Parts: sequence; structure tokens; C-alpha cells
Amino acid sequence: MRTFTKTYDHPLLQQRSLAHQAWLTGVNPDVRTPRVVEQRPGEIVYEHLDGRHAGPADLVALAGLLGRQHTAAYFRELVHARLDASFTSGGTITLDGFIDGRRERLRHLLTSESVPEPALTLEAVEGWLQKAAGMPAAFYKDANPRNFLVNGAIVAVIDFDSLTLAPFGYDLAKLVVSTTMTSGPLVQETVQEALDTYNGHPRSRGLPGCTRREFAAWCEFHHALTAPYLGTNGYRFGWHTARPGWTTDVLRQPDEELAP
Ligand SMILES: Nc1ncnc2c1ncn2[C@@H]1O[C@H](COP(=O)(O)OP(=O)(O)OP(=O)(O)O)[C@@H](O)[C@H]1O
Ligand SMILES: [Mg+2]
Repeated sequence: MRTFTKTYDHPLLQQRSLAHQAWLTGVNPDVRTPRVVEQRPGEIVYEHLDGRHAGPADLVALAGLLGRQHTAAYFRELVHARLDASFTSGGTITLDGFIDGRRERLRHLLTSESVPEPALTLEAVEGWLQKAAGMPAAFYKDANPRNFLVNGAIVAVIDFDSLTLAPFGYDLAKLVVSTTMTSGPLVQETVQEALDTYNGHPRSRGLPGCTRREFAAWCEFHHALTAPYLGTNGYRFGWHTARPGWTTDVLRQPDEELAP
């Protein structure tokens, strides 16, 4: 059987990645992930999955997948989670909260002026973090286009190294920002369609989903957090040069806050 081996420098990171995958397949049993064939010190051997990385043409379908995953995870477990705390599931796996680690990293990036043309000030970031504390919990699994393998109509999710709690829409924002940074500006209507498709899942079950304004804020979080990787990982376009205009417009208009 063809396999794919991933190496780890630290046993703790390897164990966490395996635990993340086990948790995800528990809350999203219908989502394809590679079977773990073998674990060795410093290595996880997975079955090899055929497929290509995701691209702009996959955005709306992947938004649907993420919306479905997050909504299922919420109703199975995360209804009990708070975004400002870590969440332990089954006494075995702990997902880090959304706020503490990100606050520190965002503060560092914004005060060291390493973020080109940020659309959020440090104070605005703090406001959004505080607001997030009261939002329903979904998760962040680093939805960059290299962490999906697309094979016809079948999409597999791979790479379980990062998994934290996050608001609804946050991992979709990661997909939009990282796809833009990889492939260049997206059609603005496609981004809106992706957000609508994503929101169809939580909203059909009575959850608020993610407003345009929240989505725009999470895009700016990812801009700050991903900007240091520009020029690596296939990231050729800065979000500040390619972001859809409506995302910055909506952040400048506080009175749109209550609009869907
Ligand atoms: N089970 C698998 N079958 C086939 N290819 C795989 C598999 N797992 C990973 N890959 C390939 O290896 C790449 C890197 O894997 P992974 O995302 O787990 O590592 P990474 O260190 O996060 O790399 P990156 O920063 O590029 O995402 C994937 O984008 C994919 O092309
Ligand atoms: Mg990866």
C-alpha cells in the first residue's frame, strides 16, 4: 500500500496531532481523513491519498464542508465549550481556547509593525477578542489550501497539527485569506457566496453563523498571523494587496454590525 510519512521533532506534537485527528473523526465521522497505518518514534505513517491541493474553484464547496463540520462539532460537543477557555473532551484531549495565545501573537505582530497595511488596530483586535468570548464555539484546523486533497467530488482533510477552538467563520476566513495569498485576488461575489454557503449550515440549526463584519475581522486576524509566511508555503500575494474591498468597507462601518 502507498503511504505518506510525516515527521515530528517532538513526541508531544506527534501525540497531539493523533489526538486531534481522533477527535475530529469522532465529531465529523463522515469526513474523509487518511488512515493512520503506523506510528513510530518521530513519525506518523498515513495511507497515501490521491488528490490535488484546493484552489479558488473549490472555495464554495469547501465552505460548505467547513460549515457542515463546524455545525456538527458544535452540536456533538462544542455546545459545552467557551472560546475564552480550553475544552477537554472525554477526559483525553484538550483543545486550546481561541483567545490567550492569539492575543499575545497578534499584539506582538501589530506592535512590531510586521503586518503590512493592517485594517484593524491593536485596540480593535482586543475588542474582537473580547466579543469572541461570548460567541458559540466552532474550531480552527488551519484550513489552508494545502490541507485539503481534492479528488473529483471527494475532498479529504489532512494535517491535524493545529486545532483550537474558534468562532464560526474563523477557519473559513483562513481558507479565503490563504487561497488569496496563494492564487491572487478572488472574485468578490465568490467570497460572499462561500460565506453564505458556510452560514447555511449553522443557520439551518438556529445558530447565528458569521456576519460579514465578523468574517472581515477574522480575515484581518489571518492577514496578521499569516503575513510573516509571505514568500513561503506558496504564498505569493499579500492579503493587503488582494483583499476584497467589501471586507475593509464593512469594518469601517460600525452601524452595519447587526446586518447579516
Ligand atoms: N495522506 C497523504 N496522502 C497524500 N499526500 C499527503 C498526505 N498527507 C500530506 N500530504 C501532502 O503533503 C503536504 C504537506 O502535508 P501537511 O500539510 O500534513 O504538512 P505541513 O507541514 O503542514 O505542510 P504545509 O505547510 O505545506 O501544509 C500536503 O499538502 C499534501 O500535499
Ligand atoms: Mg499543512
